[in-house]
Amino acid sequence: MRTVATVADLRQQISSWKTRGERIVLVPTMGNLHDGHLALVRHAARCGSKIVCSIFVNRLQFDRPEDLAAYPRTPHEDLEALQRENTDLVFMPEHDEVYAERHRVQESLPAGPLYQQLCGEFRPGFFEGVAEVVSRLFHMTDPDVAVFGEKDYQQLVIIKQLVKDLGLAIRIEPVATQRESDGLAFSSRNAYLNPQERAIAPQLHAELVRVGDRIKGGQRTFSLMESQAAERLQRAGFRPDYVAIRDAETLESAAYEASHMAILAAAWLGKARLIDNMLLQTG
Ligand code: PAJ
Repeated sequence: MRTVATVADLRQQISSWKTRGERIVLVPTMGNLHDGHLALVRHAARCGSKIVCSIFVNRLQFDRPEDLAAYPRTPHEDLEALQRENTDLVFMPEHDEVYAERHRVQESLPAGPLYQQLCGEFRPGFFEGVAEVVSRLFHMTDPDVAVFGEKDYQQLVIIKQLVKDLGLAIRIEPVATQRESDGLAFSSRNAYLNPQERAIAPQLHAELVRVGDRIKGGQRTFSLMESQAAERLQRAGFRPDYVAIRDAETLESAAYEASHMAILAAAWLGKARLIDNMLLQTG
């Protein structure tokens, strides 16, 4: 496994692989790797012949400097884990390396309504920052395939749209949300939970399962179900930002007859903002 910090080294390695006909798979991360990330790397091995993982805590997607400063960084453990998963190349750049080119890709992109909804409403600028760094990573790495988790479902939908808008020939491969045995989705932010909060945390997933079961059972009173779920989360000790039942392809409000739905939620628990979702095939 090779680790590089500059775009020049990254490009040199990738172009020498490409001339040999290798198929490049990119797994973008912010590090502090857990089993959710490693499932992406394992999936990447099935999508191509060279696995490239980026570790970069993207300043643009943090609205509060304290949040950026507190974000867990564990580079040594991350590199050991990636080595065990047979990663070929790790790209670990500094901020200035990624943002040397001052022109923002975002300025030439139509930031659709999707950017301001759901998590975008509560974290202004977040998805613009994600789209900016992901398009730069795509440009620098020029992968054939890129792997993203369904855990960040709105991010996944936005990135699929971005690939279309920029006319990139990159296949986006989704990976199902990986969970602890009690249902809590793996997240770097789980480390912020104290033991009492950790005991409550799985109720977020449980609530999504409950809503999903009601939809499967034929209920379609979506806005009532959303507010009831948010109330139950509040009673359990969360401070919910939203619970939303949406069309899984567009993330618009789910139509009565929608066949592929996403139930999405974001809720604070102590200092941690947890997000989760459940995908549902009906009909
Ligand atoms: P990060 O939070 O490090 O997540 C990196 C990738 O891992 C994302 O595609 C995310 O959806 C996936 N992931 C995280 N937890 C997961 C879980 N429990 N199960 C499955 N996949 C999971 O998402 C980002 O970083 C950044 O926004 C990034 C795309 C790297 C741009 O900066």
